[in-house]
Amino acid sequence: MAGTSSSSIRPRVLLTRRIPSSAFEKLEARCDVDLNDQGSLSADELKRLLAYKDGLICVVTDKITPDVLEAGAKLKVVANIAVGYDNIDVPAARSRGIVVTNTPDVLTEAVAEITWGLIFSITRRIVEGDRLVRRGAWKGWALDFMLGTELGGKQLGIIGRGRIGRAVAAKAPAFGMQAVFAVRGGGKPGSGEMSLDELLVTSDVISIHTPMTAANRHLIDRKAFARMKRSAFLVNTARGPIVDEEGLAWALKERLIAGAALDVYEREPEVTASLMALENVVLAPHLGSATRETRTAMADMAVRNAVAVLEGNPPLTPV
Ligand code: GLV
Repeated sequence: MAGTSSSSIRPRVLLTRRIPSSAFEKLEARCDVDLNDQGSLSADELKRLLAYKDGLICVVTDKITPDVLEAGAKLKVVANIAVGYDNIDVPAARSRGIVVTNTPDVLTEAVAEITWGLIFSITRRIVEGDRLVRRGAWKGWALDFMLGTELGGKQLGIIGRGRIGRAVAAKAPAFGMQAVFAVRGGGKPGSGEMSLDELLVTSDVISIHTPMTAANRHLIDRKAFARMKRSAFLVNTARGPIVDEEGLAWALKERLIAGAALDVYEREPEVTASLMALENVVLAPHLGSATRETRTAMADMAVRNAVAVLEGNPPLTPV
């Protein structure tokens, strides 16, 4: 724990991870910062460190439960360095008058880019091929060796029509794909909007970009896999619990679908063991927003949100 400058009238902020220095300096110029430099904090540590803090800047792995909020009796703001905020009990924060903020927009392109990276990785078997080369199993070029699936002329089904879903769709024409969206109640024929069931049945690649809510838990379950084409690929860069991970392992093993590429998991950093044994799945370690540019912008936005609230101004991006 590195305590920094002190002044009794400056707001006190707990920062649960080191952030890029440009953002840190802006925070330190306005607040007394208690920086946790030791990796993940347990609930007890969080509670202890939050006593007498006016603000909290945290990350997706920090679980901000009602208990934790109660321990921060003086808290006015929780600024999450993430667009998703399922790690924070927002109703509990609200009932205590605590403002919760996130970091939308600044990570949209980074997540859209990794989504396309995952789409290519799984449809063209790049990661599987890398494994094969490294274990010395490559016998040379052959006409029928490691054939993948081409994207041109195929349908990209997007679940979640927010900023990220739309950014992923915007790149589809560059690869000759037609993007369609799932909408409640279905859409007009030819509108590119359809029911989730129709999207599952007709899409060649299905990509998830919806926030994690109680209603979305296991939205993609065994029943959904059974509706998909046997040639379909599933990509998840949103939140792990939206997909039934055991069900996915079953669907991949039984070849109900052709493949999957994941950046998020139900119990991070744990990954369902049966998935690890499969070749037709790409497993990335939650890297969606992990570019230097984006992480700097996210930290900067979280700092600006926290400082705004602590100085009595409206937050930039309240949830
Ligand atoms: C990362 O997962 C985020 O929600 O920003």
